[in-house]
Amino acid sequence: MNLLSSAKYKAGYIIRMDDIIREGDPILRKVTEPVKLPLQQEDREALQCMMQFLKNSQDPAMSAKYKLRSGIGLSANQIGLPQRMFVMYLKDEKGRVVEHAWVNPKIISHSVSMIYLPESEGCLSVDRPVQGFVPRYESVKVRGYDINGKEAVMKFKGYQSILIQHEMDHLDGIMFYDRINQDNPFKLPQDVEIRSLHDLKNK
Ligand code: NI
Repeated sequence: MNLLSSAKYKAGYIIRMDDIIREGDPILRKVTEPVKLPLQQEDREALQCMMQFLKNSQDPAMSAKYKLRSGIGLSANQIGLPQRMFVMYLKDEKGRVVEHAWVNPKIISHSVSMIYLPESEGCLSVDRPVQGFVPRYESVKVRGYDINGKEAVMKFKGYQSILIQHEMDHLDGIMFYDRINQDNPFKLPQDVEIRSLHDLKNK
C-alpha cells in the first residue's frame, strides 16, 4: 500500500496544486497510519518532494511558474499518502529558516494557555476564505523522527505551535475549521487563558 501510493513522489518530482487533495475528499478525513521504521527510501523521497513544494511555493519565480499557493506546512495525506508525516518550512520573526520534516510525531506536552490567529487559519486543501478563531496551545513539545529517521524532540511556541497543531490535526483527519465555534465563530473558550497571537507579538 505504502509502496504503491508513494511511488509517484520520487526524488525530483515537482508537486503542483493538482496533487493537493482538497476538502470534501474522504482522504482528508481518515486517520493516517504510522510510518514504517526504519524510514524507507520512498517515504524519505516523498518528504523531500513535500519540502521542495513548500520552498517552491514561497519562491516568487517558482510559485509563478507552477501557479502555487504559498504554504508553510504540508501533511502527507494532503498529497494522498495516508501516513503520519508532515513538513514545515517558514522563517521565524528574526528571519531564520525553520525547516523540519516530522515522521510519526506526537505532542508529548503542551501549555495550558492558548492562542489564536485573529485572521483565522488557512490551508492548502481549502480554497475558500474561512472566518473564525481556532484555539491552539501556546506551546507544544513534539517527539518524532526526522527525515533521516533519527529521533527528535523539539518545543515550538506561538505561530510555529499553531502550525504544528494544524498539521497534526490533518494526520488525525481534522480540519482547522472543526475547531471554530459553530454558533459564533469568534467566540473563544471561556475556561482557559487565551490571547490573540498578534497581542503576544506586540508585548
Ligand atoms: Ni492544512
